[in-house]
Amino acid sequence: MKEKIIIANWKMNYDFNDTISFIRNLLKINLDKKINHKKKIIIAPSFPFLHISNKIVKGSNINIAAQNFHHMDKGAYTGEVSAHMLESIGINKIILGHSERRIIFSETEEILLSKIKIALKHKFYIIFCVGETYDERSNNKHFIVIKKQLSKTIFKFTTNEIKFLCIAYEPVWAIGTGITATPKEVQSMHYFIRFLFLEKYGKHVSDKLQILYGGSINDINAKNFFSQEDVDGGLIGNSSLEFSKFLNILLS
Ligand code: PGA
Repeated sequence: MKEKIIIANWKMNYDFNDTISFIRNLLKINLDKKINHKKKIIIAPSFPFLHISNKIVKGSNINIAAQNFHHMDKGAYTGEVSAHMLESIGINKIILGHSERRIIFSETEEILLSKIKIALKHKFYIIFCVGETYDERSNNKHFIVIKKQLSKTIFKFTTNEIKFLCIAYEPVWAIGTGITATPKEVQSMHYFIRFLFLEKYGKHVSDKLQILYGGSINDINAKNFFSQEDVDGGLIGNSSLEFSKFLNILLS
């Protein structure tokens, strides 16, 4: 059985104390023993707390990821953070292509392409998000949209380059809304994504690929998603901000 990946995307919510106490509480629980089958835990705090978070989790089964970096390596980009800066504090995981970045911060596929190149240059593990809008799904365009999102970005790279990658399928209409796709809808999209990887990179890559679902996962519905054949974990927003909910998701 493939290892499941559970990612907490804290977005712009937790301050220093919230971040540290949540991670410390998680460490206290001795998750290694509690988690019944193998799960990889990744927490994505905000920039100012990445360094300390990474120090605190050292030697544990908790990993830290950044929520963003700039698409250029360095230069006159006031207020931005580069991949190299993150690398220099030991961060080597990044969430790319999140719909909030695509929509609110106008991250185009060209920008995402540059970000992937930077991630590869600095040997980051990439959590790459794709997802259709409500209108696209209503018009039955969801499969076409996801194929296009992958073709214009990830599929520009070779098998070797995309070795350290997982895909998070996050329908835009399900993020932060309390409305989820049904487990059946999620399974069929994940099956489709795996098929696209099979076509592009062959069986070995597609079998190994971890595809996560994200969009209003909570402690009650998590199990229904994680039990689907092609769902290899979850990207959790709101429910990762409540300790007991997140813990229950980990134990699902
Ligand atoms: P949500 O967010 O769980 O609050 O829907 C998911 C995400 O944005 O990754």
